[in-house]
Amino acid sequence: MKSSDIIIRETKQNDFDDIMTVERRAFGSEDEAELTKNLMADSTSKPILSLLAFDKHKAIGHILFTVATFKDQKGSPPFYILAPLAVIPEYQRMGIGGMLIKEGLRILKKNKAELVFVLGHITYYPKYGFIGNAAKFNLPAPYLIPDKVADAWMVQELVPGSIQKYNGQIACCKAMEKEEYWRE
Ligand SMILES: CC(C)(COP(=O)(O)OP(=O)(O)OC[C@H]1O[C@@H](n2cnc3c(N)ncnc32)[C@H](O)[C@@H]1OP(=O)(O)O)[C@@H](O)C(=O)NCCC(=O)NCCS
Repeated sequence: MKSSDIIIRETKQNDFDDIMTVERRAFGSEDEAELTKNLMADSTSKPILSLLAFDKHKAIGHILFTVATFKDQKGSPPFYILAPLAVIPEYQRMGIGGMLIKEGLRILKKNKAELVFVLGHITYYPKYGFIGNAAKFNLPAPYLIPDKVADAWMVQELVPGSIQKYNGQIACCKAMEKEEYWRE
């Protein structure tokens, strides 16, 4: 695989089967495919950003960003949550995940998003600009993240100063409102 062969683009209606295949294969289970399907159908997750990576015509990776808001506050500023990120096994550790994250952040920035959150691997996401323990910056997760994994709830500002500018508990879309999704 040459990285110049990789194309990343926003998904369309008829990409649904490719998205489900990538999610199933990356995670080796139905759970994330089901979550992705629910997130994409959820009216409270919009506007979403959904990107597929292709090697020639083969779908090999998918990333989804859904809208986040402040809990109990109307008129939220533009925040997003990254979840899930999936790369099929035979293409893992080749930089595809990183390419999807970077392209997603580029588009969100262009669309004036200010903060992006992720709950994930603390050795992985900081490579792409995320900072651990967003609760420390008074931006706690929708559900309580135990102290010993507090670093897994991460934030990245796309507009300088946004981490300092905002305070409050983050609320996710309805399809992500299940405590089991918030255990790291
Ligand atoms: C995690 C995942 C998305 C990473 O994508 P990727 O394309 O394989 O990763 P990249 O090639 O961009 O990044 C590679 C780097 O991240 C590290 N890395 C990859 N997967 C990792 C993981 N699960 N945990 C920690 N580090 C990981 C690699 O060691 C590598 O670091 P190096 O370059 O210093 O060796 C992919 O492996 C995957 O789909 N895994 C299964 C599903 C999953 O766990 N998704 C994330 C949770 S939402």
